[in-house]
Order: sequence, then C-alpha cells, then structure tokens
Amino acid sequence: MSDLYLKIVNTPVGKTAAQSLGLPSPAPLKRLKRVDQPFIEGDVLIGAGNGAKAIATLGSVLGASPANLFHATGPDTLAESSQAGNKAKPFEVGANSEGKFSALVFDATGLKTPQDLRALYDFFHPTIRKLAANGRVLVIGQDPHTCRKAPNAAAQQALEGFVRAVGKEIGKKGSTANLAWIAPNAENQLDSTVRFFLSARSAYVSGQVVRIGKAEEARATNPVAPLTGKVALVTGASRGIGAAIAETLARDGATVIGLDIPPAMEELQKVTGAIKGKALACDITDEKAPKLIADFIEKETGGVDFVVHNAGITRDKTLGNMPEHFWDMTIAVNLTAEELIDEELAERNLMRDNGRIVCISSISGIAGNFGQTNYSCAKSGVIGYVESMAKHLKNGITINAIAPGFIETQMTAAMPFTIREAGRRMNSLSQGGHPLDVAEAIAWYCNPASAGVNGNVVRVCGQSLIGK
Ligand SMILES: NC(=O)c1ccc[n+]([C@@H]2O[C@H](COP(=O)([O-])OP(=O)(O)OC[C@H]3O[C@@H](n4cnc5c(N)ncnc54)[C@H](O)[C@@H]3O)[C@@H](O)[C@H]2O)c1
Repeated sequence: MSDLYLKIVNTPVGKTAAQSLGLPSPAPLKRLKRVDQPFIEGDVLIGAGNGAKAIATLGSVLGASPANLFHATGPDTLAESSQAGNKAKPFEVGANSEGKFSALVFDATGLKTPQDLRALYDFFHPTIRKLAANGRVLVIGQDPHTCRKAPNAAAQQALEGFVRAVGKEIGKKGSTANLAWIAPNAENQLDSTVRFFLSARSAYVSGQVVRIGKAEEARATNPVAPLTGKVALVTGASRGIGAAIAETLARDGATVIGLDIPPAMEELQKVTGAIKGKALACDITDEKAPKLIADFIEKETGGVDFVVHNAGITRDKTLGNMPEHFWDMTIAVNLTAEELIDEELAERNLMRDNGRIVCISSISGIAGNFGQTNYSCAKSGVIGYVESMAKHLKNGITINAIAPGFIETQMTAAMPFTIREAGRRMNSLSQGGHPLDVAEAIAWYCNPASAGVNGNVVRVCGQSLIGK
C-alpha cells in the first residue's frame, strides 16, 4: 500500500504547499539497501557522564564501523567521554562547526542522582541541532530495577522521559531516539542492540526502551548472514508482515518453515519457494495443530531455533454488538495458539538451545482500541505471556515481543480512509511503517549476539502517539 501524501509532500511544490498549510511534512526514511551495508557511516559523536560503565564497549562496537568517531570534550560532566578509545578524536561540544553527526550516542550508566542528569543537557543541548536527517540518538542507561538507591533509580528512570521527548523533537527529520537499559556487568551484551538502533534497520523504531540482561557472550560469526544454519518457524507467512519476516530471516541465512491456513497455500508456496523454505498448511487454532507442527519440524529439520508467532486476525465490533465467535476466534488465533505450540515444542525437546521465541503484540494491546476489546485483550495477553515466560525459559532461549503500530499491509489498507490517514500520521515520523520494519526488529531479536535481550516488548510504530 503506497503512501501518496508522503510522495507528494517530498516534491518541491508539495513541500511548499504543506508548509504554507501547516500540514505534516514526513521525511522519507532511509531503510537498508544492501545486507553488507555498514551499520553506521559518517561522523558519530560519543559522550559519557561520570561513572560511565559502557563507554569502552561503545567505543569498540563503533570502532568496528567505518564511521568517523568523536568523543565529547568541554564540560566537566563529560570528562569520561575520552574513554571511548583511541579511534575517537576529541570534539568540543560547544564549538561552532559546520558538519552534521549521523548519530549521537551517550553512556548514562553512571548517573547516580538527579543532579547528574545535567550531563544529558551538557551533551545534547549543543549537539542536537547538528544531528543529520535520518539521524540516530542512542542512550545507554542502567536498568532502574537494578538500582539499590532511590536517587539512582530516579536518575536512570528519567532517561526514559528524556529519550521519548527527544524522539518527538527529531522525528520530523526522520530521526529516531532510543534507550537501552543494561543490567550491571551486561555491557558485553550491547553489540547487536547498538548495531540495530544505529542502523537503517531500525528506521521506524523510535521512543523505545529495551532491557538487556546478563548472558553468555555469543557473537554472530557472520555479520552479513548471522542466522546461517538456523531454522525458523514463521506463522501467517503467506503475506503482509509474516512474508516479510520469512524473507528477512532467510536473507540473514535461516531456513524458514512458513505456515499458513490451507486456503493461503498458493500464496505461501510463492513466498517459501522464493527463499528455498518449506511450506506447512495448518490452522493454528485446530486442536491437532501443535502436534502437526511438532511432527513436521521433527521430520523436516529435527528441531527449530526461532519460532515467530506472527499469525493474527482482527474481528472488530463494539463489545455489546460482538458475536461470541468473534471473541473466541480472536483470542484463539492471537494468544491461545502461541502458548499451546510453544508447550508442545518444549515438551518434545524440539526448541534448540539459544533459541528465540518472538510474539507479535500490537499498540492496541498497549493502549486499547475502540471496537477491539477482543483484539486488545489478546494482544495485551501476549505481553503478559512474554514477560512471564522470559523468567522461566532455560538453555539460553529468549522470548520477546514486537508491538507494531500502523504498518502498510492489507489489514490497514482495508481501513476507512480517514481512520487510515489518522493512523499513518499520528506518530513522530508522520508516516506508516513497512512490513520490513517489523521483520528487521525480529531479525535483531534472533541474532546470536542478542542473548541478553529477553522479556522485551519493543514497539515498531514510529513512536505512535497512542499508548505508552
Ligand atoms: N498491519 C498492522 O498495522 C499491524 C499492527 C499491529 C499488529 N499487527 C499484527 O501483526 C501480525 C501480522 O499482521 P498483518 O498485517 O501482516 O496481517 P495479515 O492479515 O496480512 O496476515 C496475517 C496472516 O495470518 C494468517 N492466519 C490468520 N489466522 C490463522 C490461523 N488460524 N492459522 C494460521 N494462519 C493464520 C493469515 O492467513 C495471514 O496470512 C498479526 O499478528 C497482526 O495482529 C499488524
């Protein structure tokens, strides 16, 4: 589904007209063009507050990119920025300079009290206008749940409000701001998350907070195809977001088993045929579905590394008008089936060590939506399921969710014009996302280097104004 307004507003005439009428002028987002594209290029500025714990790691992750690195100098609050390593040259934050930064990265892990928050101002106030279009802001903090003292927890929690507000200020230029909260001594888990949030892969992800815990260090061996040798099951893979997930995981090296309902077999086979994957006809709400899926996996691949529960339906009606089967079907497809499939795969030991389970929630599950009590209920349940399972899974297996906002698919194309237009524009980037944007976030969760990313719900919504 194409966004005609986005195209028109980015012509010279359209831009002038939109400005004079006070209409939104969304910037075209730069998405990944080639898999071997560096995760960041251009000039990148790194800064750190006092007591920073991740600055050396950030310097080394960024040092692996072709970007020109600079570390902040000037105010005393930023003195530890120089620990970014030898590759980073000093940059006086208050200096007059012509150039633009493709990313501003700040290590706030050492901020212990609300007074320490001044370091954020000292770093970002003089530099935020030097952020290029489609630029990236990334802040690293310490997970407030792991802070023993209240002022420390306050300072770290404050980062969330700061980053979300920055995202709203820079979104009109297609730029994003995100926050990673790490557990103590989990700096070595930052690699895949820093790469994702600084890259074109996260073009439609803004205002998000991800928690990273301790895990065994597991680095991707092949940066272009990090999922080589892995097997993925993707439900609802015949079209829309599911097809993009299947294609993206295959692009990154995985063998994909695509699943969809029997009437969607022709479409599904087109998707799986193009990626040398396997197609499985199955209605996930059928009581025999978990066994059928497990039998298929056992026979075809002997096990599975990634399970992506993407299949979903909406059956909208206000609660008083909702027929019973609308309620039952929506809960069964979007929530119950996921749990039953995971249970069967675990019982039969088909989920491989260091596996990844990914569920699809929705901003409707976070904020609730008119006419969607059934869907919002199911998608909220998905969040509860993910957060609880994350504490119990063993053998390095993680579980996370993506909550898409307005994504250009057949589902959203079917919306009435005014509701569709409102959905598209009501976010910091003033446009809808693409199925690829959801798929890229799932590929980041599946990356072997994302072992510490567990129990998260990341929204791929351009920082939608709806919900948290
Ligand atoms: N498009 C959006 O803006 C958006 C926003 C938030 C969340 N989501 C979620 O993202 C996921 C994908 O959405 P989409 O827009 O690509 O939807 P879609 O309707 O285009 O695709 C959903 C797929 O799931 C399959 N499916 C449905 N019921 C099934 C069942 N019982 N067994 C097996 N397969 C079944 C369908 O056949 C279809 O191929 C869904 O979980 C949806 O709720 C989408």
